[in-house]
Amino acid sequence: MNNILIKLVASTTMTFGALALSNVALAQKVDPAVQAVMDRSFREQGIAKLDRIQQDEFQTLCSDEKFRDSPEGKKKAEALQSAALAAIKPPSDGKYLGNWAEGEKIAQSGRGATWTDNLKTVNGGGCYNCHQISKQEISYGTIGPSLLEYGKTRGNSDVILTYTWNRINNSKAYNACSNMPRMQHFNLLTEQQIKDVMALLLDPASPVNK
Ligand code: HEC
Repeated sequence: MNNILIKLVASTTMTFGALALSNVALAQKVDPAVQAVMDRSFREQGIAKLDRIQQDEFQTLCSDEKFRDSPEGKKKAEALQSAALAAIKPPSDGKYLGNWAEGEKIAQSGRGATWTDNLKTVNGGGCYNCHQISKQEISYGTIGPSLLEYGKTRGNSDVILTYTWNRINNSKAYNACSNMPRMQHFNLLTEQQIKDVMALLLDPASPVNK
């Protein structure tokens, strides 16, 4: 999957149209002719502006497979990951876990940041688009690993709390080419929302861990 899609996923509801487009862009993103098609194919509408098809440093690196897999590319990826990790803000009150029931609603919701939304729309996390999470929800995507029994199998140590927090806030801190949207980096979820999805994954009372 291409990183342009990530920005789109991060900012719009995922559609099969977007998926198909991303596959075209993946191999050829550096080709100016492809960029021209991209530029022609999207228009601004509502809050969805064209800056969304501009790649940032991570996306440029990951779209250029040859460079990405070279020793210089790997060095660049490590530098980007370290900078991303250093930029993640820990919870302001030191508490990592919110309310798992709220977290389930956030994980279910793909609302927010699309051209049919406005700036007041509460964003969802769209987590089920890519992850299995609870047993009860049988409709989920498989782009990401299953998070079923996440807390039950990993526990609640500080290491796990911090790792999970960082992953949700900016997955590219661990894998420059991660396909997971950067929730904090793009202000997709609030701190409280991230605490709530943390609880969904890690609270022993959450259905994810039953
Ligand atoms: C567009 C797909 C996508 C969405 C949406 C997404 N993720 Fe992910 N997630 C991934 C992928 C892919 C990975 C695998 C790790 C990587 O990319 O390096 C991952 C990894 C993770 C991990 C680490 C799992 C492990 O075993 O180490 C956690 C935790 C996680 N995601 C939580 C979430 C939560 C919570 C949400 C919603 C707020 C979410 N993800 C939304 C794609 C996604």
